[in-house]
Amino acid sequence: MVKDLTSSPLPALIQGGMGIAISSWRLARAVAKRGQLGVVSGTAIDRVVACRLQEGDKDGTIRQAAEHFPDKNLAARVLERWFKPDGLARPGAYKPVPMFSVSPPKALLELATFASFCEVWLAKHKASGPVGINLLEKIQAPTLPILYGALLAGVDAVLMGAGIPRDIPNLMDQLCRHETCALKLNVENGDDVQIPYDPSLVDTDCLELERPKFLAIVSSHVLAMSLARSGGVDGFIVEGPIAGGHNAGPRGWKVESGEDPVYGPKDEVNLERIRSLGLPFWLAGGKDAPTSIDEAKELGAEGIQVGTAFAFCSDSGMEKSVRRRAIAYALAEDVETRTEGRGSPTGYPFKTLNLSGTEGGRHPSERERQACNQGYLRTAYQKEDGSIGWRCAAEPEADYTRKGGASEDCVGRRCLCNGLLATAGHPYAMKTGGLEYPLITSGIMRDLPRFLRGKSDYSADDVMDELGIFADLPGDRSQTLATA
Ligand SMILES: Cc1cc2nc3c(=O)[nH]c(=O)nc-3n(C[C@H](O)[C@H](O)[C@H](O)COP(=O)(O)O)c2cc1C
Repeated sequence: MVKDLTSSPLPALIQGGMGIAISSWRLARAVAKRGQLGVVSGTAIDRVVACRLQEGDKDGTIRQAAEHFPDKNLAARVLERWFKPDGLARPGAYKPVPMFSVSPPKALLELATFASFCEVWLAKHKASGPVGINLLEKIQAPTLPILYGALLAGVDAVLMGAGIPRDIPNLMDQLCRHETCALKLNVENGDDVQIPYDPSLVDTDCLELERPKFLAIVSSHVLAMSLARSGGVDGFIVEGPIAGGHNAGPRGWKVESGEDPVYGPKDEVNLERIRSLGLPFWLAGGKDAPTSIDEAKELGAEGIQVGTAFAFCSDSGMEKSVRRRAIAYALAEDVETRTEGRGSPTGYPFKTLNLSGTEGGRHPSERERQACNQGYLRTAYQKEDGSIGWRCAAEPEADYTRKGGASEDCVGRRCLCNGLLATAGHPYAMKTGGLEYPLITSGIMRDLPRFLRGKSDYSADDVMDELGIFADLPGDRSQTLATA
């Protein structure tokens, strides 16, 4: 049985998934409390939760969620491994978390499953509206444990883009039945391999699970039509090129050109084709005006997905001083968003904010490359002996080329994993000294003054008020987690 999104008709507003940990449980909960779809980010959630635990789990929320995890022994093992009651010995001194591979260690699978459970559970706790989880198709190896953890917490929707998530609906069905399943991993210069996941890792007593809605994030009607034909898709987020985060490249553009992408009329999605699929859809990318929901509905959409406006609000997971500085610079019109053609090791264009004191404010070559220590954007490749290796175009060039990668691939690449973790308040210490700089991705920030309304800060509620979302679901918004 496929879940309802609990409110009928479907929500007019989806708060976009924003990694790493920008769309945190706190933000998703604030949105779900008003009956709209709040979305947590599943990207690198294993590492985020490991960081929060090592920082001492200051607000106690992970330990609170852990009490509700179906397998008490597994939860206890994760806490035993990662929780440090006194916090970090010094800033950035995190214990290494293993990286995902074709056969990841059991401890990592446990951490990832537990972490996404906690994030979704916390978002749903005391919020009667629906909660979704966002994942990037491109990051394949951690997907199954993260999906399963989210299912155990009763996630209402899975939203996935940055690739072609054709196999995900079927995998969700299998995971809902607690069946062992496998995700196909793309291997450069070799045959794809399967990454298995066995849900019996978690002692769930065969908890009955409902299949969440699956919403595919697309930037072309051709992809939407192809996914609709494959089946299992319950709706689409149609994302335009001004949206924050990763974007699809424009027609004819190649990352190898070294140019930043320029979008034109040919890149516009044909909404007539999308409508003809008969599935609900939401429009994303600069849709944050009071009229945006009505305009989207006039075009046949259910509503809108909004990211940037929520990314800088006080409920977001962005580290406070970084967030406040970005707002101040945006108000002074002293900061710009650039769509970098080569910045992201994924090969997709990526929006970066050129704020000074952050990665986006300096040239990629100014950061001394470090051996890859996070690993989410590595690609798998086949080694000469047939085994699978992993490489990232943002690691030291010598490492990358030793693994058979072309040195041209390294030009202009940024380490998104470390930059985005730092933006979420988890900067790792660099081997060469100092802490990793934050890296902010953002869409267009010119509308922030509307949400601020003359104040120095604004909340998710302010954004929703401005968007014309007035329905409030039962639940006391003023209640803090301390009393939860
Ligand atoms: C800080 C930030 C991080 C984002 N990260 C992701 C992500 O991890 N996955 C994803 O599918 N979309 C991501 N997005 C895109 C949003 O989900 C959303 O579609 C987009 O922000 C909508 O356009 P807007 O920024 O103009 O509101 C991100 C956007 C921002 C601003």
